[in-house]
Amino acid sequence: MKVSAFSAGCGAVVEDVQLARLTDEQIVELRSIFAEYGVVFFRDQELSPAEHHLFATRFGDIHINPFFKPVDGFADIAEVRKEKGQKTNIGGGWHTDHSYDDEPAMGSILVARSVPAKGGDTRFANLANAYDTLSDGLKTTLESLRAVHSNVHIYGKDGHYAGTDIADTLGGSDKVGNAVHPVVIKHPKSGRKILYVNPAHTICFEGWSYEESRPLLDYLYAHVDKPETTCNFNWKPGSVAFWDNRSTWHFANNDYHGEDRLMHRITLAGTALMGA
Ligand code: SIN
Repeated sequence: MKVSAFSAGCGAVVEDVQLARLTDEQIVELRSIFAEYGVVFFRDQELSPAEHHLFATRFGDIHINPFFKPVDGFADIAEVRKEKGQKTNIGGGWHTDHSYDDEPAMGSILVARSVPAKGGDTRFANLANAYDTLSDGLKTTLESLRAVHSNVHIYGKDGHYAGTDIADTLGGSDKVGNAVHPVVIKHPKSGRKILYVNPAHTICFEGWSYEESRPLLDYLYAHVDKPETTCNFNWKPGSVAFWDNRSTWHFANNDYHGEDRLMHRITLAGTALMGA
């Protein structure tokens, strides 16, 4: 297995490996790479849906996403699909998966099945590096805070997707809710401190109004969205990204109208997050 940094501050590429045929030693190695880099990219994988499922189960339990349509015959693989006639995509803004759950998903494994000739990249951000580059004063303030996360405004019956051209493909509008997490969490494996707020799901700081929270949240989001903390992954059929939802954000670019894009996603169950 050959590992190299994908960009200066975000992600790793792992080569000379087929995810369908990993040894137990390689799984152990991959767990460390995953914790260190937050997002790991693989190219040219021959990974059928059954092998995708098996790879995921070697890392943990699968969390079934209640909103996305499942792949035929695989209840625990979600389709992330945009068809040529549609204008809306899934995940077209910075977010981390499932921060609105009390026990947010540990990771997600996205496999490219069909990609546009150009565009449809996914951007990632490293929230451990983002935390490290804040001032000591702001770090101390943030460590005393908790934040409210929600998906009601996104997947709820009057939420963002309800009025869009992919509304019919989504379900679960009655399964929405909120959760509260520390603003700075400690990664259970790397021990690093991580800034745990995200633009799609974080509503406000606990005990603060929306208006009071907005300026500080906006400052933090601008701090994260910088070239030194982010990277851009261009998909090809057989590309795979495996990301840690506790330490990264991602953003699916929606710049390929008139073309199809189909990805398969498995979400791995997580545990309650510990404050730093
Ligand atoms: C997602 O937000 O999980 C989808 C990412 C993508 O389609 O690139």
